[in-house]
Amino acid sequence: MNYCVVGLQWGDEGKGKVVDILAENSDIVVRYGGGANAGHTVIVGDNRFALHLLPSGSVRPQTICVITNGVVVDPDVLIKGIDTLGEKGISLDGRLLISENAHVVLPYHKKEDQLREEALGKNKIGTTIRGIGPCYADKVGRSYAVRVGDLRDLERLKAKLQKIVEHKNKIFAALYGAESIDAGEIFEKCKLHAQRIVPFITDTTEFLHKAIAEDKSILFEGAQGSLLDLDHGTFPFVTSSNSSALGMPAGCGVPAKLVDEFIGVVKAYTTRVGAGPFPVEQDNETGQYIREKGNEYGTTTGRPRRCGWFDAVAVSYGVKIGAIDSVAMMHLDTLSGLKELSICRAYEINGKETSFFPANDDRLSQAKGLYETVPGWDEDITEVKDFKDLPVNAQDYVRRIEEYIAAPITTVGVGPKRSQTMNR
Ligand code: GDP
Ligand code: IMO
Ligand code: MG
Repeated sequence: MNYCVVGLQWGDEGKGKVVDILAENSDIVVRYGGGANAGHTVIVGDNRFALHLLPSGSVRPQTICVITNGVVVDPDVLIKGIDTLGEKGISLDGRLLISENAHVVLPYHKKEDQLREEALGKNKIGTTIRGIGPCYADKVGRSYAVRVGDLRDLERLKAKLQKIVEHKNKIFAALYGAESIDAGEIFEKCKLHAQRIVPFITDTTEFLHKAIAEDKSILFEGAQGSLLDLDHGTFPFVTSSNSSALGMPAGCGVPAKLVDEFIGVVKAYTTRVGAGPFPVEQDNETGQYIREKGNEYGTTTGRPRRCGWFDAVAVSYGVKIGAIDSVAMMHLDTLSGLKELSICRAYEINGKETSFFPANDDRLSQAKGLYETVPGWDEDITEVKDFKDLPVNAQDYVRRIEEYIAAPITTVGVGPKRSQTMNR
């Protein structure tokens, strides 16, 4: 079986944990989009790993890990990730493959991300400042891009960087009055990075198609979430890649048709980091309760996450555009102790009711959530192993959401550990 795991909200749904569990029965785990803006948490025994670029399968020593063309690779973060695992005795030698066609995030991308956000002031996107937008912009622009395969030819890379940095410095000076950056310094860093990364570089599309022909089981790991999708999310408050299920085929060269099951991951409520419309946001005691109980602070940036009720309008949209087969709902335990829970069943926009998510800032920013309120439960459910042993109100909450989103919720999470996950 080949699976693809994607977030159905604004990221941080618990994809890392779901991928880690599924990886037990997968030969290969593939990261196909996004970059070091992602932070996927995997807990193994007493060890807590925050993976930014390496697939979440990397914590399992037998799993082949692939980073494909759709990812933007920050060599600093990648090498740090490899070394962190190495320190725990987990080696990636011989089981990590990186696409020659993935683009490289360089220091000027991070600088540009920061300068642009600062210049935008209160209109900023609230990016992770990991250089994601500028790197994807260079990819689309073509003339000033560096790909992972370029690390194989250092002489050519040196000349390329000279030309790019000259161009970037003009922009930095003209638009931001910022200090210039040094091409030589960047090249010296690239030389060091090349020594570590070149052994992993390959044609990952060819590798994956051979693996498919050999009937290997492949797990595709999405980053971010459907509502952060550049084309189908809450533009401009999105990331710079197609982070819904629609991005998977282009991100790795494997058609969606070859995936047996698309699994959507959601939280039992909603969170969002960074700016942008968020119709179900609870900027009040309820939001605060969820933030503290669910430890809702960013895995990558440490920023407090904005919290709100479960948004069935938003999740149904992710289900539809992704042809999602089944849903894994995490963090049900976080809702324990709330007297009543609200489920957003529709939006009211300019006096009209709609249940189809408007991926348009002008309309979404006018949306007011319309809710169904259901009773909560008090019990601590973190040790429950079987769905039927959950409090009836918790079971009913899951079933009610299932009806709204028109997709089966087949997995439920009641805590961050592998063992705190039940299949229905
Ligand atoms: P990802 O980006 O989708 O992989 O998610 P993150 O790792 O950024 O954030 C999810 C957080 O929730 C992590 O701290 C996980 O350890 C934690 N987590 C995952 N599933 C559950 C769950 O069912 N209950 C609780 N309480 N925490 C969970
Ligand atoms: P994972 O994979 C949550 C958000 C940022 C910001 C917007 C644009 O861990 O779910 P970017 O740096 O990508 O240009 O920022 O997207 N964002 C995420 N939010 N989880 C993520 O990844 C995210 N990756 C980007 O907070 O609002
Ligand atoms: Mg995350």
